[in-house]
Amino acid sequence: MRTDAMVVHHSIAAWQEARRGADFAGSRIGFVPTMGALHAGHRALLDRAWTENDRVVLSIFVNPTQFNDPADLQKYPRPLEADLALAGEFATDVIVPAAGELYPDDYCFRVTEHGLTGELEGAHRPGHFDGVLTVVLKLLNLVQPHRSYFGEKDWQQLQLVRGMARTFFLPGEIVACPTVREDDGVALSSRNARLSAAGRARARMFPKILRESPDARVAAAALRETGFQVDYVEDRAGRRLGAVRVENVRLIDNVPL
Ligand code: PAF
Repeated sequence: MRTDAMVVHHSIAAWQEARRGADFAGSRIGFVPTMGALHAGHRALLDRAWTENDRVVLSIFVNPTQFNDPADLQKYPRPLEADLALAGEFATDVIVPAAGELYPDDYCFRVTEHGLTGELEGAHRPGHFDGVLTVVLKLLNLVQPHRSYFGEKDWQQLQLVRGMARTFFLPGEIVACPTVREDDGVALSSRNARLSAAGRARARMFPKILRESPDARVAAAALRETGFQVDYVEDRAGRRLGAVRVENVRLIDNVPL
């Protein structure tokens, strides 16, 4: 746990000035990009970043361009005070930029990938990964980290960020961190808070069925029988990936085969 004071940067200009300053010179910088509503999954990323770097930079930005559903964007939780309290244990710096500052071009420039983005999550959320890749590129350019930390729960996002980093020769390492789960196996997500007790109880069957079914087709059928709406279940690259809806809350997960 850190003991010195964490600095919160509310503008990009303030952040850039700090980044050029003596505090960062010669330091190894770990970066954890988030949309806030921090939970134990983010905490694990921050914890790992703290053990591997001298400074840990956290960004909190609910990125509008990655929401294909405006209602989802509106409902997204924004508990900034609680987030800063959790961040204070591990982060030396927090960047909380405004949308107008991150998108001075009104999203005219964007990163588009033409392969994996059309599949799995991308097939169900048009434009989502353009928004993710664009904001991650902006943040990586602003932070210039030695290492950036991404959760394996968003497996497709992780592959796409890695692909972008390779393709554009971005410096710094993209570090994958294992999914953090509740005791009953449910992957941590800020969306879980929107489930009723019954929905939450049903959610525990999602990773169990993914893990225990002999193939993706059987898993999809079992999920439907259990009351989930299934967007997809697919096996690829040694993992079984799935997205389901329960009580209109969309959950994604993936497990090793
Ligand atoms: O995984 C997330 O929380 C977001 O997609 C990210 C990487 C912070 C970009 O907005």
